[in-house]
Amino acid sequence: MLARSSCAMGPNDAVFSYAPVLWLTGLPGAGKTTLAHALATVLMARGFRAMVLGGDVLRQGLSRDLGFSARDRYENVRRVSEVAAILARTGQITVVALISPLATMRNQAREVIGERFRQVYVKAGLEVCEARDSKGLYRKARRGELPDFTGVSVHCEPPLNPDLVVDTGARTVNECVTQLRIFVEREFANIGTTRASARKLLRRQAV
Ligand SMILES: Nc1ncnc2c1ncn2[C@@H]1O[C@H](COP(=O)(O)OP(=O)(O)O)[C@@H](O)[C@H]1O
Ligand SMILES: [Mg+2]
Repeated sequence: MLARSSCAMGPNDAVFSYAPVLWLTGLPGAGKTTLAHALATVLMARGFRAMVLGGDVLRQGLSRDLGFSARDRYENVRRVSEVAAILARTGQITVVALISPLATMRNQAREVIGERFRQVYVKAGLEVCEARDSKGLYRKARRGELPDFTGVSVHCEPPLNPDLVVDTGARTVNECVTQLRIFVEREFANIGTTRASARKLLRRQAV
């Protein structure tokens, strides 16, 4: 009989029930990408397995055939959700950074991903995001060079009942990352069993 390697996991392994998908939603420039990568770095430094799915990167590959119409955004959300669900099932804490401006888009993601889905509202007002304009996209949109730009020509619905709000207009990056890390540890490392053993299940060395 083949010995089971330390990497092998079956669907009954408890780690499958714990790895979350954090779905970061918010305006362009709110801080989704910044926080997703900083959080993944902090989690990995603590021994967790974590992965970022960033809207910009995915649009260069997986979704490069899609534009920014509502129909294409729904399709983009569907693809990202499917990938996130696969990653989370392998025990990766999966952090999605995607504008996903409408509640129905985020509900679609929740349906695909299931109970491990957590919605995080990366909150910053339009004025704050526009003042940051880290990629110069608001300027372009205001000049009419970017149709379908969220916050300017596309409506953005803030989540009504997010699982977590990180207020990047009022807090530093470090403060927001700490808030996210504590949320992950509280929500997903304390379910059903003791905190210590649940944490162990999510940590790389236990997989
Ligand atoms: N608390 C904060 N959290 C995240 N980003 C912040 C924060 N405060 C200022 N920023 C800045 O805001 C910008 C956010 O850009 P980005 O992460 O690309 O946004 P998004 O991915 O939401 O479009 C970055 O330049 C970042 O340094
Ligand atoms: Mg981004």
